[in-house]
Amino acid sequence: MQTTFVTVALSLAVACLVGQVSASIVFDRACPTGIDAMQYFSVESYLGKWYEMQRYESEFELNYDCVQVQYTLNEDDSVQVSNSAYNLFNGSTINALGRAVLSFPDEEIIQGKLNVSFFGAPNDLSNYWVLDTDYQTFSVVWNCQPLGEQQSEESFWVLSRTPTLPTDRDVMFRIHNIMRRYIDRNQVRFTRQLDDRCPVF
Ligand SMILES: *[C@@H]1O[C@H](CO)[C@@H](O)[C@H](O)[C@H]1NC(C)=O
Ligand SMILES: *[C@@H]1O[C@H](CO)[C@@H](O)[C@H](O)[C@H]1NC(C)=O
Repeated sequence: MQTTFVTVALSLAVACLVGQVSASIVFDRACPTGIDAMQYFSVESYLGKWYEMQRYESEFELNYDCVQVQYTLNEDDSVQVSNSAYNLFNGSTINALGRAVLSFPDEEIIQGKLNVSFFGAPNDLSNYWVLDTDYQTFSVVWNCQPLGEQQSEESFWVLSRTPTLPTDRDVMFRIHNIMRRYIDRNQVRFTRQLDDRCPVF
């Protein structure tokens, strides 16, 4: 009993360490190819606070809402990642500190691909791809990692600068355009941001 609890707590702790990167699901297919990240990506414009609107649910992140991410520039030009979330069922808060760097900073055209890692782990995986963002309103983030040849693990988030996603047509169109092509809507979970209990992180 005790051991099970500890194991579960540990798994959750690890999931929290991994932070948002753990919001992933396994598909019985290889990673889709031909998905482009944003081009001419600007890290500077991407900094600041984002609210999670939607994500692929993972059993580890289950029940966590009010998810907020704060990106700030470190002195070495990497990005500090601070993820916070609140469990509306039992009132627990999680926070994960990480670091992000551009995956391929020397490319002529900088792509919105980042290597994000948490708690000092090496930034050796291009695991955060910004497929589209206008920097001021929304961001659509996706990634796929192969699991052998027949399976893959995909993550997906829609982020918003405000706790409610603006409904103007251009924003809706751009998000919809990506989701319709690449995202399995049945697996998408909407993050609750408007609950009175959501803390101000
Ligand atoms: C709340 O639930 C989460 C996971 O569902 C768990 O990790 C956490 O320890 C729980 N916190 C409290 C205070 O019970
Ligand atoms: C990011 O990860 C990829 C592997 O997915 C690697 O090729 C690349 O060199 C890494 N970028 C940095 C800046 O470490």
